Amino acid sequence: MAQLFTPRATVRFRAAIILVLAGGLAIGALLFFWARSDPAWNLGKPAKQPIPFQHSLHAGTLGIDCRYCHSTVERAAAAGMPSAAACLTCHSEIWQGASLLEPVRTSAALDIPIPWLSVHRLPAYAYFHHGIHVSAGVACESCHGRVDTMRETVKTQTLSMGWCLDCHRDPAGRIRPQDAVFSMGWTPHDSSAPEEVKAFYREARSRLTDCSTCHR
Ligand code: HEC
Ligand code: HEC
Ligand code: HEC
Ligand code: HEC
Ligand code: HEC
Repeated sequence: MAQLFTPRATVRFRAAIILVLAGGLAIGALLFFWARSDPAWNLGKPAKQPIPFQHSLHAGTLGIDCRYCHSTVERAAAAGMPSAAACLTCHSEIWQGASLLEPVRTSAALDIPIPWLSVHRLPAYAYFHHGIHVSAGVACESCHGRVDTMRETVKTQTLSMGWCLDCHRDPAGRIRPQDAVFSMGWTPHDSSAPEEVKAFYREARSRLTDCSTCHR
C-alpha cells in the first residue's frame, strides 16, 4: 500500500502547526501590549471642538480660575461645563463678532448648551465624584495634568482602574492643602504627609479599594 503522507509532508504539517500556534501567541501578545499602551487610552489626543477654546490663554495667560467655568467641581460628581453666558461676560466685548465664536452666540440665542466634546469619559459602570476628591485635597493637576499650558485639551492620565487604585491604596502623599487644589505646577515644601493624615488613609484603605466604592 502506498504511503498516504510522505515524510516531507509530515515535516511540513508539523511546521504549519507550530507557525499557527506561534502566530496566535504573537497576536495575543500584541493585543495585550496595545491595550496597555498610551494610544489605546487616547492619551494626548485632542477632540475636534466646536470652538478652538484655549486653556493656555484663558487659564494660563489670563489666569481665570478653573471654578469660573467648571463651577460645580467642588460639590458635585461632574465638574460642569461653561455655559455660553460664561463666555459672553467677556466675549460680548472682546472678539465680539468673530466667526470663531459663532457657536457661543447661537447657543446663547437658542438657550442650548455648547456641544463640547469630552476627552475624559469613564464607562457608565464606574462611579467618580469630583467634589469628594477636591474636598479631600486632591488637585486638578494630579488627574488632568498642566491644563494651564494646553492649547488643545488632552488626557494626560489613563483614568484606568489600575491608575485609580494606585492612588487609593495610599493617597496620603498626594494630598495638598486646600488652597493649592486649583494651582498648577505646585510642589510641596514637605512631601511627607502629617501623621494623622497617614493614619487616616491606612484606616481608609480597605474602603477606598473595595469594589463597591467605584462600582455601585
Ligand atoms: C475673563 C474674560 C474671558 C472669558 C470668561 C472668556 N474669554 Fe475667551 N478670550 C478672552 C481674551 C482676553 C482673549 C484674547 C483676545 C486677544 O488676544 O485678542 C480671548 C480669546 C478667545 C478666543 C480666540 C483665541 C485665538 O486667538 O484663537 C476664543 C476662541 C475664545 N476666547 C473662546 C472663549 C470661550 C469659548 C469662552 C467660554 C468658555 C471664553 N473664551 C471665555 C477673555 C475671556
Ligand atoms: C474660561 C473658561 C474655562 C476655564 C477658566 C477653565 N476651563 Fe476647562 N474647559 C473649558 C471649556 C470650554 C472646555 C471644553 C473644550 C476643551 O476641552 O478644550 C474645557 C474642558 C476641560 C477639561 C476636559 C473636559 C472633558 O470633557 O474631558 C478639563 C479636564 C478641564 N477643562 C480642566 C480645567 C482646569 C483644571 C482648569 C483650571 C486650571 C480649567 N479647566 C479652566 C473652559 C474653561
Ligand atoms: C482624582 C482625579 C480627578 C481630579 C482630582 C479632578 N478630576 Fe476632573 N475628571 C476626572 C475623571 C475620572 C473624569 C471623567 C469623569 C466621568 O466620566 O465620570 C473627569 C472629568 C472632568 C471634566 C469633564 C466632565 C465633567 O465632569 O463635567 C472636567 C471639566 C474636569 N474633570 C475638570 C476638573 C477640574 C477643574 C478639577 C480640579 C478642581 C478636576 N477635574 C479634578 C478625574 C479628576
Ligand atoms: C491622586 C489620588 C486619587 C486618584 C488618582 C483617584 N482618587 Fe478617588 N479618592 C481619593 C481620595 C483622597 C479620596 C477621599 C477619601 C476620603 O477622604 O474619604 C477618594 C475618594 C473616592 C471615592 C469616594 C469614596 C467613598 O468612600 O465614598 C470614589 C467613588 C472615588 N474616589 C473614585 C475614584 C475613581 C473612579 C478614580 C479613577 C478614575 C479615582 N477615585 C482616582 C484619591 C484619589
Ligand atoms: C478606585 C475605583 C475602583 C475600584 C475600587 C475598583 N474599580 Fe473596577 N474599574 C474602575 C474604573 C475607573 C474602571 C474603568 C476603566 C476603563 O476605562 O476601562 C474599572 C473597570 C473594571 C472592570 C472592567 C474591565 C476592565 O479592566 O476594564 C472590571 C471587571 C472591574 N473594574 C472590576 C472590579 C473589581 C472586581 C473590583 C474590586 C476588587 C474593582 N473593580 C474595584 C475603578 C475601580
